[in-house]
Amino acid sequence: MPKIKAVNHVAVVVDDMDKSLSFWRDALGMELHELRDVPAEKSQVAFLPIAGAEVELVMPTSGDSGIAKYLVKRGPGMHHICLEVDDIDGMMAQLKAKQIRLINEAPRTAADGKKYAFIHPESTGGVLVELYQI
Ligand code: CO
Repeated sequence: MPKIKAVNHVAVVVDDMDKSLSFWRDALGMELHELRDVPAEKSQVAFLPIAGAEVELVMPTSGDSGIAKYLVKRGPGMHHICLEVDDIDGMMAQLKAKQIRLINEAPRTAADGKKYAFIHPESTGGVLVELYQI
């Protein structure tokens, strides 16, 4: 039976990285581990690790990216929660068997080798959920 192991990260869409960091880094005092451009996603991402998990701030760097379209439609705010799973293929088969609506029918592989897939908010109570297998 596939098992959820941890919360890996929580992703927040922002429209102003400096303003957002003035809250997460400066007011809350969380450590900014890395601020990185992700050209493939036309976005800039800030990583703020906390107790084995991370808050990720994502800002579009181009108007035609998926995240830019999301921002126009929904505004800044919570984007998704990512759960680490020990067996993503097994978990996706289990979800399909329970008629859970998936965004990715099969897991994708990131540049760093992690496998990931998204579950549709329609089946989760309105929260976009990402699964990760490291
Ligand atoms: Co994510």
